[in-house]
Amino acid sequence: MTEQRWAAVDEYLSGLFVPPDPFLEAARDPGSVSPLQGKLLHLLARLAGAQAILELGTLAGYSTIWLARALPPGGRLVTLESDAGQAELARANLERAGLADVVEIRVGPALETLPQLAGPFDLVFLDADKRSNPEYVPWALRLSRPGSLIVADNVVRAGAVADAGSTDPSAQGVRRFHELLAAEPRVSATTIQTVGSKGYDGFAVALVTG
Ligand SMILES: C[S@@+](CC[C@H](N)C(=O)[O-])C[C@H]1O[C@@H](n2cnc3c(N)ncnc32)[C@H](O)[C@@H]1O
Repeated sequence: MTEQRWAAVDEYLSGLFVPPDPFLEAARDPGSVSPLQGKLLHLLARLAGAQAILELGTLAGYSTIWLARALPPGGRLVTLESDAGQAELARANLERAGLADVVEIRVGPALETLPQLAGPFDLVFLDADKRSNPEYVPWALRLSRPGSLIVADNVVRAGAVADAGSTDPSAQGVRRFHELLAAEPRVSATTIQTVGSKGYDGFAVALVTG
């Protein structure tokens, strides 16, 4: 199986499950989740009955739109982005998508903006700098409640997660992230390896149980 084949299958399935949408397409960036992953985030948020969502890593707002569209009337989404230019672009994309009143973008490194937030959030999506994922776990727990979901993207990193000797800070970050989740009595977690248009990676899902 080649990456070309994975991408062809993604294209086929996206054609079935993700109707064309100019607002999503305008917000899509090579660094965004894929359309099928965006739909998965949307479904997870709906399954969780999420009324408040926290996202780390906005980029141009693609996953933000998927998540925000899962909210019921009166729901809210806070998204954290360190790059002011990206935040501006995301703001325009969210406004065009009619979500300006639902989504609040906080600009700055997440470790500086997280302490300003009040939870609980029903779903926390970790998709910022992977090297900091271990530091985001305690924040995700502090800002959630029993029953909340914590979801993280890019946590397999083409298999580097299994390489204890990797010197890549992101690989080390996702290793430590998994070890923390596994040792945390307040969550029940799993990670699924994924292939597709974004190559070989993985999604972690953790249910906050206590
Ligand atoms: C993988 S992209 C997010 C993709 C987005 N969630 C989507 O799927 O459309 C990661 C984003 O995190 C941002 N970022 C990197 N380090 C950060 C930090 N310390 N705090 C907040 N955002 C950060 C980057 O600027 C980038 O926009």
